[in-house]
Amino acid sequence: MNHKEIIQRTEKYISSEFCSEGSGHDWYHIDRVRKMSLTIGEKETCNLFVVEMAALLHDLDDWKLTDQASPALSKTEKWLAEVEIEADLKAKIIGIINEVSFKGAGVDTPVSSVEAAVVQDADRLDAIGAIGIARTFAYGGHKNRLIYDPEIQTELHGDFQVYKNSKAPTINHFYEKLLLLKDRMNTETARQLAVGRHEFMKNYLNQFFKEWEAVL
Ligand code: NI
Repeated sequence: MNHKEIIQRTEKYISSEFCSEGSGHDWYHIDRVRKMSLTIGEKETCNLFVVEMAALLHDLDDWKLTDQASPALSKTEKWLAEVEIEADLKAKIIGIINEVSFKGAGVDTPVSSVEAAVVQDADRLDAIGAIGIARTFAYGGHKNRLIYDPEIQTELHGDFQVYKNSKAPTINHFYEKLLLLKDRMNTETARQLAVGRHEFMKNYLNQFFKEWEAVL
Protein backbone atom coordinates (compact mmCIF):
# COMPACT_ATOMS: atom_id res chain seq x y z
CA MET A 1 0.00 0.00 0.00
CA ASN A 2 1.46 3.39 -0.88
CA HIS A 3 1.25 6.40 1.43
CA LYS A 4 -1.66 7.95 -0.44
CA GLU A 5 -3.71 4.78 -0.05
CA ILE A 6 -2.79 4.53 3.63
CA ILE A 7 -4.07 8.08 4.20
CA GLN A 8 -7.31 7.34 2.32
CA ARG A 9 -7.96 4.15 4.28
CA THR A 10 -7.13 5.83 7.57
CA GLU A 11 -9.45 8.73 6.77
CA LYS A 12 -12.27 6.29 6.05
CA TYR A 13 -11.64 4.34 9.25
CA ILE A 14 -11.42 7.44 11.48
CA SER A 15 -14.44 9.17 9.93
CA SER A 16 -16.57 6.12 10.69
CA GLU A 17 -15.15 5.78 14.24
CA PHE A 18 -15.80 9.44 15.09
CA CYS A 19 -18.94 10.27 13.07
CA SER A 20 -21.30 10.39 16.05
CA GLU A 21 -18.92 11.63 18.76
CA GLY A 22 -20.78 14.19 20.90
CA SER A 23 -18.04 15.56 23.14
CA GLY A 24 -16.37 17.88 20.63
CA HIS A 25 -13.94 15.23 19.41
CA ASP A 26 -15.98 14.34 16.34
CA TRP A 27 -14.68 13.63 12.85
CA TYR A 28 -14.77 17.33 11.92
CA HIS A 29 -12.40 18.10 14.82
CA ILE A 30 -10.01 15.45 13.53
CA ASP A 31 -10.33 16.76 9.97
CA ARG A 32 -9.66 20.37 11.07
CA VAL A 33 -6.59 19.23 13.02
CA ARG A 34 -5.40 17.31 9.95
CA LYS A 35 -5.86 20.37 7.67
CA MET A 36 -4.28 22.76 10.15
CA SER A 37 -1.38 20.36 10.73
CA LEU A 38 -0.69 20.33 7.00
CA THR A 39 -0.98 24.14 6.78
CA ILE A 40 1.50 24.57 9.63
CA GLY A 41 3.67 21.66 8.50
CA GLU A 42 4.15 23.11 5.01
CA LYS A 43 6.04 26.01 6.59
CA GLU A 44 8.34 23.69 8.55
CA THR A 45 10.87 21.09 7.49
CA CYS A 46 9.04 17.91 8.32
CA ASN A 47 7.56 14.68 7.03
CA LEU A 48 4.01 15.60 5.99
CA PHE A 49 2.90 11.97 5.70
CA VAL A 50 3.82 11.37 9.34
CA VAL A 51 2.13 14.65 10.33
CA GLU A 52 -1.10 13.77 8.50
CA MET A 53 -1.25 10.24 9.91
CA ALA A 54 -0.60 11.42 13.47
CA ALA A 55 -3.28 14.12 13.10
CA LEU A 56 -5.81 11.58 11.80
CA LEU A 57 -5.06 9.14 14.64
CA HIS A 58 -4.37 11.57 17.51
CA ASP A 59 -7.66 11.08 19.40
CA LEU A 60 -8.24 7.39 18.70
CA ASP A 61 -6.89 6.28 22.09
CA ASP A 62 -7.19 9.61 23.92
CA TRP A 63 -7.71 9.38 27.69
CA LYS A 64 -10.63 11.81 27.46
CA LEU A 65 -12.54 9.40 25.24
CA THR A 66 -11.61 6.00 26.63
CA ASP A 67 -11.90 4.49 30.08
CA GLN A 68 -8.39 3.10 30.02
CA ALA A 69 -6.35 3.77 33.11
CA SER A 70 -3.11 3.97 31.16
CA PRO A 71 -2.62 5.81 27.87
CA ALA A 72 -2.13 2.59 25.91
CA LEU A 73 -2.34 3.00 22.15
CA SER A 74 -4.15 -0.23 21.45
CA LYS A 75 -6.43 0.86 18.58
CA THR A 76 -3.74 3.03 17.01
CA GLU A 77 -1.15 0.23 17.14
CA LYS A 78 -3.61 -2.20 15.63
CA TRP A 79 -4.51 0.15 12.81
CA LEU A 80 -0.89 0.95 11.95
CA ALA A 81 -0.18 -2.78 11.79
CA GLU A 82 -3.18 -3.31 9.56
CA VAL A 83 -2.05 -0.72 6.99
CA GLU A 84 1.45 -2.22 7.18
CA ILE A 85 3.24 1.04 7.73
CA GLU A 86 7.07 1.07 7.90
CA ALA A 87 8.35 0.38 11.44
CA ASP A 88 10.28 3.65 11.79
CA LEU A 89 7.28 5.71 10.67
CA LYS A 90 4.99 3.78 13.01
CA ALA A 91 7.26 4.59 15.95
CA LYS A 92 7.34 8.25 14.94
CA ILE A 93 3.54 8.49 14.66
CA ILE A 94 3.00 6.86 18.05
CA GLY A 95 5.63 9.13 19.59
CA ILE A 96 3.79 12.20 18.28
CA ILE A 97 0.39 11.04 19.56
CA ASN A 98 1.83 10.47 23.03
CA GLU A 99 3.11 14.04 23.12
CA VAL A 100 0.05 15.90 21.79
CA SER A 101 -2.23 16.06 24.87
CA PHE A 102 -2.48 18.88 27.38
CA LYS A 103 -1.97 17.45 30.89
CA GLY A 104 -2.58 20.37 33.26
CA ALA A 105 -1.53 24.00 33.59
CA GLY A 106 1.59 23.18 35.59
CA VAL A 107 2.58 20.07 33.65
CA ASP A 108 5.19 20.43 30.92
CA THR A 109 4.35 18.73 27.60
CA PRO A 110 7.57 19.02 25.59
CA VAL A 111 7.73 17.76 22.01
CA SER A 112 10.66 15.81 20.64
CA SER A 113 10.17 16.32 16.89
CA VAL A 114 9.02 19.03 14.48
CA GLU A 115 6.15 16.74 13.47
CA ALA A 116 4.94 16.53 17.08
CA ALA A 117 5.27 20.30 17.45
CA VAL A 118 3.07 20.78 14.37
CA VAL A 119 0.28 18.37 15.41
CA GLN A 120 0.27 19.62 19.01
CA ASP A 121 -0.14 23.20 17.73
CA ALA A 122 -2.96 22.24 15.36
CA ASP A 123 -4.84 20.38 18.11
CA ARG A 124 -4.38 23.30 20.50
CA LEU A 125 -5.59 25.82 17.93
CA ASP A 126 -8.81 23.82 17.63
CA ALA A 127 -9.25 24.14 21.41
CA ILE A 128 -9.34 27.96 21.32
CA GLY A 129 -11.37 30.64 19.51
CA ALA A 130 -15.01 30.25 18.43
CA ILE A 131 -14.69 26.54 17.79
CA GLY A 132 -12.76 26.04 20.99
CA ILE A 133 -15.61 27.64 22.97
CA ALA A 134 -18.19 25.40 21.29
CA ARG A 135 -16.11 22.29 21.88
CA THR A 136 -15.45 23.19 25.52
CA PHE A 137 -19.15 23.42 26.34
CA ALA A 138 -19.89 20.27 24.35
CA TYR A 139 -17.26 18.42 26.42
CA GLY A 140 -18.61 19.91 29.67
CA GLY A 141 -22.12 18.70 28.82
CA HIS A 142 -20.76 15.29 27.91
CA LYS A 143 -19.18 15.15 31.40
CA ASN A 144 -22.30 16.54 33.14
CA ARG A 145 -20.42 19.60 34.29
CA LEU A 146 -22.03 22.87 35.33
CA ILE A 147 -21.52 25.76 32.93
CA TYR A 148 -20.28 27.92 35.80
CA ASP A 149 -20.28 27.93 39.60
CA PRO A 150 -18.89 31.09 41.27
CA GLU A 151 -18.16 29.05 44.41
CA ILE A 152 -15.62 26.82 42.67
CA GLN A 153 -12.24 28.41 42.22
CA THR A 154 -9.95 27.98 39.27
CA GLU A 155 -7.11 25.53 39.88
CA LEU A 156 -3.84 25.48 37.97
CA HIS A 157 -3.18 21.73 38.02
CA GLY A 158 0.39 20.65 38.60
CA ASP A 159 -0.45 16.98 38.32
CA PHE A 160 -1.95 15.13 35.35
CA GLN A 161 -4.10 12.75 37.46
CA VAL A 162 -5.64 15.64 39.39
CA TYR A 163 -6.28 17.54 36.13
CA LYS A 164 -7.79 14.43 34.56
CA ASN A 165 -10.17 13.84 37.48
CA SER A 166 -11.27 17.47 37.81
CA LYS A 167 -15.05 17.97 37.98
CA ALA A 168 -14.84 21.75 37.81
CA PRO A 169 -17.39 23.78 35.82
CA THR A 170 -16.68 24.47 32.16
CA ILE A 171 -15.88 28.18 32.60
CA ASN A 172 -12.95 27.19 34.84
CA HIS A 173 -11.48 25.28 31.92
CA PHE A 174 -10.83 28.58 30.13
CA TYR A 175 -8.53 29.66 32.96
CA GLU A 176 -7.04 26.21 33.59
CA LYS A 177 -6.19 25.49 29.97
CA LEU A 178 -7.59 27.53 27.08
CA LEU A 179 -6.21 30.98 27.95
CA LEU A 180 -2.78 29.42 28.56
CA LEU A 181 -2.45 27.89 25.11
CA LYS A 182 -1.51 31.08 23.21
CA ASP A 183 1.85 31.15 24.97
CA ARG A 184 2.46 27.44 24.55
CA MET A 185 2.47 27.19 20.77
CA ASN A 186 5.59 25.67 19.24
CA THR A 187 5.59 27.18 15.75
CA GLU A 188 5.50 30.78 14.54
CA THR A 189 2.46 30.05 12.32
CA ALA A 190 0.45 28.78 15.28
CA ARG A 191 1.60 31.60 17.54
CA GLN A 192 0.24 34.13 15.03
CA LEU A 193 -3.06 32.28 14.55
CA ALA A 194 -3.53 31.95 18.30
CA VAL A 195 -3.55 35.71 18.92
CA GLY A 196 -6.95 36.43 17.33
CA ARG A 197 -8.54 33.31 18.79
CA HIS A 198 -7.26 34.23 22.25
CA GLU A 199 -8.71 37.75 22.01
CA PHE A 200 -12.04 36.30 20.87
CA MET A 201 -12.21 34.09 23.99
CA LYS A 202 -11.35 37.01 26.28
CA ASN A 203 -14.17 39.08 24.76
CA TYR A 204 -16.49 36.12 25.09
CA LEU A 205 -15.69 35.75 28.80
CA ASN A 206 -16.19 39.48 29.42
CA GLN A 207 -19.63 39.26 27.88
CA PHE A 208 -20.40 36.03 29.76
CA PHE A 209 -19.71 37.61 33.15
CA LYS A 210 -21.64 40.76 32.26
CA GLU A 211 -24.68 38.67 31.50
CA TRP A 212 -24.08 36.49 34.57
CA GLU A 213 -24.11 39.52 36.87
CA ALA A 214 -27.01 41.13 34.98
CA VAL A 215 -24.85 44.18 34.32
CA LEU A 216 -26.46 46.70 31.98
NI1 NI B 1 -7.85 16.42 19.44
